Amino acid sequence: MHNDIKEVLISEEEIAQKCKELGKQLAEEYDGRFPLAIGVLKGAMPFMSDILRRIEIPLEMDFMDVSSYGGGTTSSGEVKIVKDLDTKVEGRDLLIIEDIIDSGLTLSYLIDLFKYRKANSIKIVTLLDKPAGRTAAIKADMVGFEVPNEFVVGYGLDYDEIYRNLPYIGVLKPEVYSEKLK
Ligand code: PRP
Ligand code: MN
Ligand code: MG
Repeated sequence: MHNDIKEVLISEEEIAQKCKELGKQLAEEYDGRFPLAIGVLKGAMPFMSDILRRIEIPLEMDFMDVSSYGGGTTSSGEVKIVKDLDTKVEGRDLLIIEDIIDSGLTLSYLIDLFKYRKANSIKIVTLLDKPAGRTAAIKADMVGFEVPNEFVVGYGLDYDEIYRNLPYIGVLKPEVYSEKLK
């Protein structure tokens, strides 16, 4: 285990099993359609890669890079588009893929945007849900795991851009971020 990690919350095996289950449900959900899967960069990258390889139906992939956190551990409340989609959203069935829903501000912004762009349908799949952090009324259609109100990293989730490559979801030792704040 990485030295900065206090505890592994969700193991690599548990994540793999969950991707398999969620992928199966999504394949049934979108059977006969041609969804546009949208990964929210950067955090959704590992989850998107794993879950979409469990859905054996034709689909398109695109990416949106939005950022709300900056370097800290709490949301700034601001959402900024860093990279927009290349694909037209009008009339499409969208599947938004996220690593975590915390305040809900990122998704609330994206959903408004995609509604304005006249999507036919919008569904959200998130690996993690942290209901304690919620300020915007956002609910995912599919959730992998609920997590407590702790700062989690790994499998796409960063602290100050680090730890995204860990294969599990872990809790950071508090001294790691208190060091940085000094
Ligand atoms: C994180 C995470 C979600 C979002 C969730 O992304 O990946 O996209 O915050 O928080 P919210 O529900 O409070 O909006 P971040 O903005 O840190 O960018 P990143 O994915 O590049 O790390
Ligand atoms: Mn993100
Ligand atoms: Mg981040």
